[in-house]
Amino acid sequence: MNQDDVKARFAATATKVAGLEERRRAALAERVRAFVPTTGTERAIDVAAGTGALAFALAPLVREVVAVDLVPELLAEGRARAAGFPNVSFVEGDATALPAADGEFDLAGTIRSLHHIADPERALAELVRVTRVGGTVVVVDQIAPGDADAAAAVDRFERARDVSHTRLLGDSELRVLFSENGLELEEVEIEDEQRDLAKYLDLADCDGAARERALALAPSRPSYTTQLAWYRLRRAH
Ligand SMILES: C[S@@+](CC[C@H](N)C(=O)[O-])C[C@H]1O[C@@H](n2cnc3c(N)ncnc32)[C@H](O)[C@@H]1O
Repeated sequence: MNQDDVKARFAATATKVAGLEERRRAALAERVRAFVPTTGTERAIDVAAGTGALAFALAPLVREVVAVDLVPELLAEGRARAAGFPNVSFVEGDATALPAADGEFDLAGTIRSLHHIADPERALAELVRVTRVGGTVVVVDQIAPGDADAAAAVDRFERARDVSHTRLLGDSELRVLFSENGLELEEVEIEDEQRDLAKYLDLADCDGAARERALALAPSRPSYTTQLAWYRLRRAH
């Protein structure tokens, strides 16, 4: 079951995930500030928060952020690094069955997570459910290349690196999902992300035969370029 894979992979690598989050923290805060307009009064939720990347970026911009993740080890790392963020709390929960009431949040976001979730449609529907009508939904994720063969090849590589990888969604697929869930697209930005293969495999503890297999399937070496898409949406109804 995918959630067992997620728990095993991220429990084993929680310290590495936290270290990466801290190295990216300042840049992500700046990026989020520019992309997500806020008033300072919002209650926000970071879904599949890991060690709290989006939660920490949003914290100075809003009243309160709840960071939800499936993996207790990640939440513990996040709590241990949250000293400067008194308005962030960490809660264990499943993105496809969020421990939150309908319309409870003004702002709901998820970053780098949908491709780890076996039922991303359900996760998106949950993000929308817990956001009030008129509120903001932010989705950031690696997207599939437009060409179907290239997309399948990237998924094969990503799964060889990390068994908890499910499938990358494409830009057009995501836009259909947004529209089906009553979301209006306000802003989209797609950026290239260059990944050093060795560091990327290290981050997932991908060693031995699995590493050899992943290297053989890598789209290019010694690094590869993927696309990270940022969507800001409004819950219209
Ligand atoms: C690549 S990490 C990203 C974490 C964080 N958002 C960040 O950007 O650093 C993917 C996250 O999705 C979480 N995840 C996967 N499936 C989940 C689910 N069903 N419910 C909650 N979290 C989930 C994992 O535990 C992991 O923290």
